[in-house]
Amino acid sequence: MMKGETPREPLEGWKLTEKVFDARYARKYESIFCQGNGYMGVRAATEETYPSTRRGTLIAGTFDRIEEKHSTELPVSADVMAVDITLDGAALSQSSFESYERVLNLQNGLLTRRFLWRSANACLSATFERFVSLKDRHVLGQRITLHMLEGSGTINIETGISGSNRPGIVHFQNAETLVDGTVLQYAETTVESGIDFVTSAIISAHVLGVDTHKLTALSRVLEGEGVMNAYSVTLRANETLVVEKLARIATTRDNDFDAPPEGHSFRYALMDRECVLMTSLWATGFNEALAASIRQWARIWETRDVQITEATGFDQLALRFAVYHLTIMAPLHDSRMNIAAKGLTGPGYLGHTFWDTETYILPYFVWCDPKGARSLLHNRYLFMDAAHRKAQENGYEGAMYPWQTAWLSDTDTSVNPRMSACEHHITADVAYGVQYYYQVTGDLDFMLRFGCEILFETAKFWCSRLQYSTQNKRYELLHIMGPDEYHISDNNAYTNYLAYWNLRCATEWAKELCAHYPKDYAVLCQRLGVDAQVSVWEERAAALYLPQVNQAGILPQDDTFLSLPQIDLAPYKQGTRSIRADYDKSALLKLQVAKQADVAALFLLLEDLFPMDVKKRNIYYYEEHCVHESSLSLCTYSLLASDIDEQDSAYAFYQKACRIDLGNKMDSSDEGIHAASLGGIWQCVVLGFIGVRARNDMLCICPKLPARWKRVTTRIFWQGQPLTISAEQTGFCVKALEGDTLPKLLTPSGLHEAPGVSYRETY
Ligand code: BGC
Repeated sequence: MMKGETPREPLEGWKLTEKVFDARYARKYESIFCQGNGYMGVRAATEETYPSTRRGTLIAGTFDRIEEKHSTELPVSADVMAVDITLDGAALSQSSFESYERVLNLQNGLLTRRFLWRSANACLSATFERFVSLKDRHVLGQRITLHMLEGSGTINIETGISGSNRPGIVHFQNAETLVDGTVLQYAETTVESGIDFVTSAIISAHVLGVDTHKLTALSRVLEGEGVMNAYSVTLRANETLVVEKLARIATTRDNDFDAPPEGHSFRYALMDRECVLMTSLWATGFNEALAASIRQWARIWETRDVQITEATGFDQLALRFAVYHLTIMAPLHDSRMNIAAKGLTGPGYLGHTFWDTETYILPYFVWCDPKGARSLLHNRYLFMDAAHRKAQENGYEGAMYPWQTAWLSDTDTSVNPRMSACEHHITADVAYGVQYYYQVTGDLDFMLRFGCEILFETAKFWCSRLQYSTQNKRYELLHIMGPDEYHISDNNAYTNYLAYWNLRCATEWAKELCAHYPKDYAVLCQRLGVDAQVSVWEERAAALYLPQVNQAGILPQDDTFLSLPQIDLAPYKQGTRSIRADYDKSALLKLQVAKQADVAALFLLLEDLFPMDVKKRNIYYYEEHCVHESSLSLCTYSLLASDIDEQDSAYAFYQKACRIDLGNKMDSSDEGIHAASLGGIWQCVVLGFIGVRARNDMLCICPKLPARWKRVTTRIFWQGQPLTISAEQTGFCVKALEGDTLPKLLTPSGLHEAPGVSYRETY
């Protein structure tokens, strides 16, 4: 802490608080307070259910589809957080709450709800705590503490594993329950994909007070609907009822499940294993299971926390919220899986993956968790077969990545055929992610084993996708959709430039391998025919049409956008009215209105291709014509505003982006949080305000802090080396850790070849 700064209470900057419960807004809180660990996501649906509640525990990569006409989606698995509680016969509900508060502690992942609950003869304080373990991905826990403050009352609790009350399509069949000693188990199988899910739990209930004792459960098995323990007790003043539940969720798709010998049932093998693991988890106890998770969160924050010193505390909280969700959304334990557009926090986009991963989320992992980034990119490598098939099905060559993906074998999971048929930029975005990863990490092993193949196969795709215009004597990309999903047109600048970049990047890598890694190159040449392709890539890239700025200095988004009529967007820019309320898809197609950053997204990815004055003029122009209907847009404009030294705008866009999930639009996150935007928020701070970049094999740092910020400190990995950067209004400091020396640095004052252990620059 600097002299003159006011000390803060320890949890300030870490606590997300709900002060008043209003069931109408339950879904938003269920999403933003969601807990998880990349394997599972547990929406923060309250123990009691309201008509607006959308309960949901989602397990990464367990897709299912019940009918041809539906798209594959993540099924909602059995629920261990739903509990029925009554006090003197009255069920717990919103009307029982007094002095309500619910807090998600981002520092340790614990969700706590407290309130006072009165009946005619009793007043008790109720505390509900839950966690999803970051240490053991199968584990979750819930503790209910009811302390009688005045009078006495009878409490009835039914708690266990519930298979009923699940929203949406029912994806399970053959439900089965089991009570084995203290272990409750519920098993079921997804309809099409045949994945067995096994949920296990052990519950205890104790009365603490003068007469401390354990309650005996009347076990009730509800076939098909779940398995519950029921407890009943009359609590007197100063007595406390504590109900603890530890649970495990596992599936036969898990990469830590060993298939049993042939002829044995997968389900029973898993149930047996889980019964044993559940018993030993219980033996370690609730407190230790929670403590192990908290220790793991502490490890995460040690390297991932970005500390912002500014007066309101909001910017800090919003960034930690982003990092919290980036941590729980990523299934890094299994490279067969990728990050969904809503993480594991809700049903939106059915749990599918988009370009959001490479363009908005991957940079966070590349700079903070290179191993995690590698797993995400390896996932794209595993998609290669499907990408080849997709190319073939569409008459192209090489690897064509599907716009929206779930299973590794899917060539199309899109619910919207318009996007999947035309939004081809995803293929270049994946390639871009590969090269971005390499530039920051220097992971040559990845490139030689997987990365180059992705670059080569995507380059082949673009060659086959380009059309030669004899009239214009150039290659073009016709009938294509860029990031702006309102328009399908010819020569979308974003896509043309990214395709060009993809061809060039593949060419450079082929030459690099040929010159320096001839053995690896020979293998790839033999398998993929790279040598015969290189000259084609070069020729196509040279003849590919790259839209140029017009006389007014504007880079056309596509061949028609700039000639379309303009309308006043003011009513839609305030965020209170959606443009969709007044214009349908076909009307939007004919207007000069962009759904989201498009040319701006091009400047984000290929920032060095365009001079500053071009970027400036175009950023203003296109922002004016953009309604930011996609959550990917505001963070893009914040990053670009930082790039063109417009700090006030950069900060204003950053704040707006933070409010997509954390603002007072109470239905904004009903279907889940906005994963890409959260990755974008992290980028706004570290790449935008601190100005971190990889440029020509050099680490570049050029901070441009918002005027309200005093200081920001972060940890990054550069070529595998951890570094700490601390930036202030008047300068910055970079430090190597663990006795290392700093790499070559490029800063506003120039190039520093050997800056030593720590480097400080003052302006
Ligand atoms: C955006 C896409 C994005 C998708 C998933 C859409 O609304 O237009 O760019 O990939 O949401 O987040």
